[in-house]
Amino acid sequence: MTTTEDRGQHVLTNRQGHPVYDNQNQRTVGSRGPATLENYQFLEKISHFDRERIPERVVHARGTTAFGHFEATGQWGDEPIERFTRARLFAEAGKKTDLAIRFSTVAGGRDSSEVARDPRGFAVKFYTEDGNWDLVGNNLAVFFIRDAIKFPDFIHSQKPDPVDFERQVANRVFDFISQSPEALHMITLVFGPRGIPASYRTMQGFGVNTYKWVNAAGETKLVKYHWLPQQGVKSYTAADAAVVQGSDLGSHTRDLYDAINRGDHPKWDLYVQMMDDHDHPELDFDPLDDTKVWDETQFPLGKVGTMTLTGTPTDFFTESEQIAFGTGVLVDGLDFSDDKMLVGRTFSYSDTQRYRVGPNYLQLPVNSPKGTRAATNQRDGAMAYVVDRPEGANPHVNYEPSTLGGLREGDYPTHDEQGPEITGRLTRKRIARTNDYLQAGQRYLLSEQWEKDDLVANLVDGLSACDRHIQERMVWHLLMCEDELGGRVGEGIGISADDVRHLDPLPTQTLSPEETQRVENLG
Ligand code: HEM
Repeated sequence: MTTTEDRGQHVLTNRQGHPVYDNQNQRTVGSRGPATLENYQFLEKISHFDRERIPERVVHARGTTAFGHFEATGQWGDEPIERFTRARLFAEAGKKTDLAIRFSTVAGGRDSSEVARDPRGFAVKFYTEDGNWDLVGNNLAVFFIRDAIKFPDFIHSQKPDPVDFERQVANRVFDFISQSPEALHMITLVFGPRGIPASYRTMQGFGVNTYKWVNAAGETKLVKYHWLPQQGVKSYTAADAAVVQGSDLGSHTRDLYDAINRGDHPKWDLYVQMMDDHDHPELDFDPLDDTKVWDETQFPLGKVGTMTLTGTPTDFFTESEQIAFGTGVLVDGLDFSDDKMLVGRTFSYSDTQRYRVGPNYLQLPVNSPKGTRAATNQRDGAMAYVVDRPEGANPHVNYEPSTLGGLREGDYPTHDEQGPEITGRLTRKRIARTNDYLQAGQRYLLSEQWEKDDLVANLVDGLSACDRHIQERMVWHLLMCEDELGGRVGEGIGISADDVRHLDPLPTQTLSPEETQRVENLG
């Protein structure tokens, strides 16, 4: 008889290192039982199994991780990058930084379809020499809302009904959207061809929120990040996606891993748009509003480097399920803006990760810095795994300041003051330049005919399942974006401009003079 030893296999043990002689039968009194409670091997195995699942991400639960590197150009477009940021990962041409990336869908659960109509997450963790930098973005450049306080409501509207878990959520989605016109721009993207990428390799990525760059003199710029795939951009229609997901819910992961494993390493170029750091009263939108894009002719894209993906995880749970990204994870030379989404996101990510993964989530190999090492006085907590203490530091000193050989503060950056001075009263107010419809309408007008047709067909399809008053309000909003768009969608669901003329703007809307004029034209 061949034993496991003969085939070169290792002997199975439990977590205490005890060899397991019988993995088929638990210990019982006689072959028919009863079982005994001191049965350590069985209890360890089954009780660990009982704890295998951690909470899935509250959003972006379905996702896929890969590894690679970023290579800097040392420039922003044709100009030396040090003029704009002192971040060292960008500083020199050819400088390489290791990274991890996780692509995801937003609304579905951990095992849901990868070709759902949904934005895609595009989260990159750079393991730089100054610690980690996470750029946590999406594939569509803008977002549905502009204030973080609306995020839980928005996500609830995207998730199944809380009573019967009904997954046909169109009525919930459009109920919320019809009361949140800032989402119209994002809706023209999600319901157009870009709403279902053909693969993760063939989609763009965007930082979406406005960040800042800081140079050595402490001068700041507002910036937006764009990832452009060298593979080109390809999308699925709803019909393509239905065929794919009929037999395969994980087509995007398979496509990505097959490409990487056959040496066809996908690449994205990273471009940055820049603005001077102030509120730009000359623009018809607020530069801190994440429902808006910045005109590329006015604010050109400057290339700063290229990302190449070369590796796949050795284990899904430890490297994809437990990887943790956050918008607060920045390095020197990069900073936040006052974008009202960004501050909410920055709290939310590490908060959920302390719950989802545990208080020591940053000690896990995939999350801990690789270009430098953590040196903290944070100790203990569930699952503490290492002590963040560099070689030679006094192990007895877990506080600072100390004269006994503990950790000391770093050398202060030459400029600790940066950015414009800000004053204001505490308040709860919308931003002044909401301008919710203009860019949505422009996007429709700039689309090719087949893209317009796809958008209209998908909106008609989604809205067909909605209550009449929600349909009417949506047609009203779409007419506000662009007459042709509202007219065509209305026609598809049997609602004319006449049917919606009686509607007034929502009490939550602040209309620009141009928008007020459009309302009057509708009426
Ligand atoms: C994941 C919150 C807006 C992109 C998450 C998670 C939370 C969250 C709690 C789960 C994180 C985890 O369990 O590890 C929020 C809040 C937002 C917001 C409160 C608004 C205030 C956005 C926006 C984008 C975005 C605007 C895109 C620009 C992502 C991505 C992930 C994610 C890519 C998945 C990260 C991963 O792959 O692990 N978000 N989010 N989120 N969010 Fe957001």
